[in-house]
Amino acid sequence: TSILVLNGPNLNLLGTRQPDVYGHDTLDDVEQMCRDHGKAHGVTVDCLQSNYEGELVTWIHEARGTYDGIILNAGAYTHTSVALADAVKGTEAKMVELHISNVHAREAFRRHSYLSAVAIGVMAGFGVRGYTLAIDALLGHLEDAA
Ligand code: DQA
Repeated sequence: TSILVLNGPNLNLLGTRQPDVYGHDTLDDVEQMCRDHGKAHGVTVDCLQSNYEGELVTWIHEARGTYDGIILNAGAYTHTSVALADAVKGTEAKMVELHISNVHAREAFRRHSYLSAVAIGVMAGFGVRGYTLAIDALLGHLEDAA
């Protein structure tokens, strides 16, 4: 089993960006945590980050046939990107939508997501711990579907 953890715009700033909202762990810390968590479960976890919408679209395309599922924190593209939703839909990717913060407790514009409708489920509000929780949730879903 292999999982792709995909982070979108501004998540390269983790650790220094609004630490009150997103915490003090860096993206490197989070990616290492995800890979370690995968290893402990006998699962390959690869991690990618881009600030470019089209690059994220391409990586979702390329994940087809390579990864069993995707954890996607699309950052602000969550709230704007029909293209990312179409990529997930079009490749039939098994995707868990993830947010570090509780997007429902923030500005109104963060309450709408184009991705939720094409996601298996949504993880939000549990800080960076959500990444390992989302991996567990995805693995459980893949097991049930097998
Ligand atoms: C985020 C929430 C988004 O609204 C925001 O634009 C982000 C990060 C989160 O992880 O909480 O960049 O996806």
